[in-house]
Amino acid sequence: MNQTAEQRVAAYNDKWPPALLTYNDRIYGVWVIGNTYENASDFYGEYPHKLLQRMQTLFQDKQKVMHLFSGKIIDKGAMTYDIDESHRPTICDDVRNLLAHKTEIQDRDLVMCDPPYDKSDLKSTTFQSRLAKLRC
Ligand SMILES: C[S@@+](CC[C@H](N)C(=O)[O-])C[C@H]1O[C@@H](n2cnc3c(N)ncnc32)[C@H](O)[C@@H]1O
Repeated sequence: MNQTAEQRVAAYNDKWPPALLTYNDRIYGVWVIGNTYENASDFYGEYPHKLLQRMQTLFQDKQKVMHLFSGKIIDKGAMTYDIDESHRPTICDDVRNLLAHKTEIQDRDLVMCDPPYDKSDLKSTTFQSRLAKLRC
């Protein structure tokens, strides 16, 4: 059964420094992750330390997770989707081809998404898009 926003916040505030509240069934808060912005690797854009664990605390009722733009995320049992084959995602493709994978992804009950931070980080599998990028 789906947890309520209140239940998610209660689980979070119990495990991490309390920082969240609900209003009108929405979750609000600020996460101060600390002054160590260390990453496990030097991969640009990698989730900060413990960010994934904090998200998992909020969504304990979701077992079928997909990480879209997954990069180097390691999350046992979750599906990963990224264009870069060096990250060894479950599905390696351009996000713009998402619908072509409908059958594989339709049972996911949570999608966590960490897209490229700007246009220059958006990669493409199509020659046309590469060309468009060059023209920008
Ligand atoms: C901000 S990073 C995500 C990093 C991830 N949160 C982590 O902790 O490693 C963005 C990711 O989007 C991927 N990406 C870029 N363009 C894409 C596209 N067109 N389709 C799918 N993935 C793409 C990159 O390969 C990169 O891994």
